[in-house]
Amino acid sequence: MTPNTITAGHDAGASATPAYPMKRGCPFDPPAELAQLRTEKPISRVRLWDGSSPWLVTRYEDVRSVLADPRVSADTDRPGYPATSAAILARRKNTRSFIGMDDPEHSTYRKMLISDFTVRRTGSLRPLVEKIVNELLDAMERGPRPVDLVEAFALPLPSMVICQMLGVPYADHDFFQSHSRALLDLSVDVQESMRANDELREYLTGLVAAKEAEPTDDVLGRLAQQRVLTGELSRDDAVSMALLLLVAGHETTANMLGLGTLTLLRHPEQAAEVRDGDPGVVNSAVEELLRLLTVVHSGRRRVAIEDIEIGGVTIHAGEGIIAAGEAANRDPAAFVLPDDLDIHRADNHHVAFGFGVHQCLGQPLARLELQIAYPALLRRFPGLRVDVPIEEIRFRDQMIVYGVQALPVSW
Ligand code: HEM
Repeated sequence: MTPNTITAGHDAGASATPAYPMKRGCPFDPPAELAQLRTEKPISRVRLWDGSSPWLVTRYEDVRSVLADPRVSADTDRPGYPATSAAILARRKNTRSFIGMDDPEHSTYRKMLISDFTVRRTGSLRPLVEKIVNELLDAMERGPRPVDLVEAFALPLPSMVICQMLGVPYADHDFFQSHSRALLDLSVDVQESMRANDELREYLTGLVAAKEAEPTDDVLGRLAQQRVLTGELSRDDAVSMALLLLVAGHETTANMLGLGTLTLLRHPEQAAEVRDGDPGVVNSAVEELLRLLTVVHSGRRRVAIEDIEIGGVTIHAGEGIIAAGEAANRDPAAFVLPDDLDIHRADNHHVAFGFGVHQCLGQPLARLELQIAYPALLRRFPGLRVDVPIEEIRFRDQMIVYGVQALPVSW
C-alpha cells in the first residue's frame, strides 16, 4: 500500500483530509468549511475521530438523493458505518434502535409506533401542550428575573409532553435529562456514556415491566401490552425504542426552543410577526427556524452497500457517507439567501428532520410544540430580552444536538 492509498474507509494521506465535525466560527451558522466544500468539492473525504475517512456530502440535492437511496444503509453494525464517537460505538453493543437499522427490520419497529405519531394523533395533544405552555409561562412570570429560559421553559415543555405520551413519570426528569445529556455529549468518555446508557436502560426496563403487569394508556403501555406480552417484541427491544423516543423526544425540541428564541430575539421585526400569531406566519417561521438552525447538526450517517455514482464521484460499497443536513439546508442552489432568516420563505423543503425512510417520526409533535410555544412566549413577555452579552452565551458545540446551554432572559 502506498502512503496515499485510500483503503476501505481509511485515508492514509489524512493530513490533506479535513477533520469532521468542523468548528463553527459564528455560533448561528454551520462551519464555514462546509460552505467551501459545498462549492468546491461537494462530495469529499473527511477524517473522523477514529482515523476513518468517509465521504461528506454537502449539496442539498445530493444529501436528499443519498438519504433516499436504497443502496445506502443506516445499519450501524455494518463495517464502514461512520461512528460519531468512541462512546457511541461502544454503546451500540447494548442499544440498537431502529434509527440504525434498514428495512424491513427498521419498518417493523417504526410501524409499531406510527399510529401514535401521526399529525392527527399528535394534533389531539394541542390542549395538553397549550396547558403546559401556559403553566410554565405562569411560573416564569411569578419567578425571579433574569431566568434561564432553557431551564424554565425550553427543556421542561418537550420533556413533559413526551413523558405524558410515553407514560414516563415527569418526576424523574432530573434523572433522564442528565442521562440523555450524557448520551449526546461528545466530550463524555466511554465509561461514563456506557453508565448513562445502562442506567437509563435499567430505569426503562422497570417501567416497561410495570406496564406489562398493569396496563396504561400511553405509548409504552401499548407496546408492553400489545407487543411485548404477545411475544412480538422482546422487552429489551421495547426498552431500546423507549430510550430513542425519550431522548429524541425532548432534547431536539428543547434546543429548537432555546436557540430558536435567541434567533428570533436577534430579529425583532420577525419576532413581532410571530408574536402576532397568524397561524400561516407562525408555521412558516417554525419551518424557517428548523432549516436555518438544523440543530441535529452532526450529519446523517450512512454506509454504501453497493457502488453508487453521485455528483461524478463513485462511492464504493462499504464506504461510509455523512449527509450533512446542516450544509444542505444552507445550499444557495436550494434556498434564496440561505443564511438569512426569512419567516415568509416559500417552498421551504428543508432536511432538518432528515429525508427518506428514517425521516423524523416525531416531526408532527415537534412542529405542534414549536408552533404553540414561540408565539405564546413572545405574547406573554412582549419585552423579552436576552440578559447577557452574546459573547457570554455558551453554545452546545460538543453535543450531537446543537443549541444553547442556558439563555438568561428578562422582560
Ligand atoms: C425539532 C425537533 C426534532 C428534530 C430537529 C429532529 C430531527 C431528526 C432527524 C434529522 C432524524 C433523522 C435521523 C437520520 O436520518 O439518521 C430524526 C429521526 C427520528 N426522530 Fe426526530 N427530531 C426532532 C424531534 C423529535 C421528537 C419530538 C421525537 C419524538 C419521539 C423524535 C423521534 C425521532 C425518531 C424515533 C427518529 C428515527 C426515525 C427512523 O429511523 O425511522 N424526533 N429526527
